[in-house]
Amino acid sequence: MARHLVTSALPYINGIKHLGNMVGSMLPADVYSRYLRQRGHDVLYICATDEHGTPAELAAKEAGLAVAEFCAQAHHAQKAVYDGFQLAFDYFGRSSSQQNVEITQHFARQLHKNGFIEERAIRQVYSPVDGRFLPDRYVEGTCPHCGYDKARGDQCENCTRVLDPTDLIAPRSAIGGSTELEVRETRHLFLLQSKLQHEVEAWVALHEEQWPQLSSSIARKWLTEGLHDRAITRDLDWGVPVPADTWPELAAENKVFYVWFDAPIEYIGATKEWSDAAPHGEKRDWKSWWYEADDTVRYTQFMAKDNVPFHTVMFPATELGVREPWKKVDVVKGFNWLTYYGGKFSTSQKRGVFTDSALELLPADYWRYFLIANAPESDDSSFTWEHFAATVNKDLADTLGNFVNRVLSFSRKRFGDDVPAGNAAGQAEEKLGEEIARLLAEYEEYMEALQYRKAGAALRALWSAGNSYLEEEAPWLEIKTDPQGAALTLRTAMNLIHLYAIVSEPFIPASAAAMRGAFALESDTATWVTAEQAKSLDAVPAGTAFTVPPVLFAKIAQEDLESYRARFGGADA
Ligand code: 2FM
Ligand code: ZN
Repeated sequence: MARHLVTSALPYINGIKHLGNMVGSMLPADVYSRYLRQRGHDVLYICATDEHGTPAELAAKEAGLAVAEFCAQAHHAQKAVYDGFQLAFDYFGRSSSQQNVEITQHFARQLHKNGFIEERAIRQVYSPVDGRFLPDRYVEGTCPHCGYDKARGDQCENCTRVLDPTDLIAPRSAIGGSTELEVRETRHLFLLQSKLQHEVEAWVALHEEQWPQLSSSIARKWLTEGLHDRAITRDLDWGVPVPADTWPELAAENKVFYVWFDAPIEYIGATKEWSDAAPHGEKRDWKSWWYEADDTVRYTQFMAKDNVPFHTVMFPATELGVREPWKKVDVVKGFNWLTYYGGKFSTSQKRGVFTDSALELLPADYWRYFLIANAPESDDSSFTWEHFAATVNKDLADTLGNFVNRVLSFSRKRFGDDVPAGNAAGQAEEKLGEEIARLLAEYEEYMEALQYRKAGAALRALWSAGNSYLEEEAPWLEIKTDPQGAALTLRTAMNLIHLYAIVSEPFIPASAAAMRGAFALESDTATWVTAEQAKSLDAVPAGTAFTVPPVLFAKIAQEDLESYRARFGGADA
């Protein structure tokens, strides 16, 4: 048994996430954690909302709320959706927690002590009317490249060009609209990443072998371009304050740390939140996962590709510079983009399907299965309603759902409410057992390797093997001439259902529970079944009482498909 630490990129607090965010971070982390737990490992799956930075301030302003109040509400709203998706976090924390403030400040002090933080003067836009320096995103104006009049000081949303606030034509404050802007000198903390370049390179070289190609190629690209010193403080009202004991002047100016400095530290912060939230009598030791953690702790991170540089290069640089034995990541699983009909899902333009609306339409398992079985691993993958409906109808409704329902209903009709005994297993069952064992071993191999599309295909093949067996044995014909043979076929098929319940749990937990719950077994857990154990297909003995669960998956009809396309936009969106 190993100890597995699992984290997924922290979703920004501003707004409910879309399906692309879900498939590139939290969902695969949940599927992996569930699988590991079933296999008996000690798993800690941690996530949190990423609550600092300009997006949080701007969203709060738009909502007309104080930032703290906005974040509290938005955290609960996101958590409710993740509960709906059945994401089984061990803890879902908040980067604005006191725990994160303390650990972030500790990291900064250590980096300073070790010579990796330096105070530097820079020139920045100041708004006398607002009485503050404006972060790049808070300066708006006309893009010098395309003429778009709402370009932001960091980037033009229209032509996507990266900008400097001083590039903007007719700049104005995004806070109050004032055009009376000045450029003034101000001091900020810089993280001297350039000094850590060689150490990070050596660390990456030691670890990248375990990473998928996408993650190591991104890390390599960043290292080749060279690590630059980065400003890690900002002039914002909301964030982790620069500690006054170390930088009294900057603290007096209310400087806070840049969101990307404190966000990854929240992986640790949220683990401490988890520890501090332990119910009375339960001992949770956050430090054993993170500090001087022994070799039994294996740490896997999940994220979309835009986050990969921060996790393979920048955060490791921070952790290395702290010069304390903090746990560093073992495997960085990066994902490409999920597109919406080949275009971008966009939070700001509300394009695509958002996780809350998804759950209004259909239960979580439909989405979980589709997204993971089509995860954007080796390339971007496209969400279309047509593909989604076809997948749900074929894989979930026909191959799995129909199998379960057909077998249980038919057996009840012919043999009553208990699993029938019938003949002893023969050649067909032996052949089926071999096939199931082979596919299960394949499925396990892909799950261990975090290859989700291939794991999805192996799971589908397991479901199909049951259908082929049933078609070949045809118990509805067998019953007329050989009732004991038909009973054997049904008992075997019911054992397959029980096996499916266990091995499908990481993908479709609610449906898996319904399948398992169909059998009144004396002691029953979702504990994994090895390929060798699966072979005999006898975990559910004759005489076990069972019920027929309601239809597991409803088909998506043509008119549903049309209404989804009309509501969210189809190929022409
Ligand atoms: O890109 C994002 O959505 C960020 N909020 C991810 C942060 S991951 C971590 F480092 F906290
Ligand atoms: Zn532009």
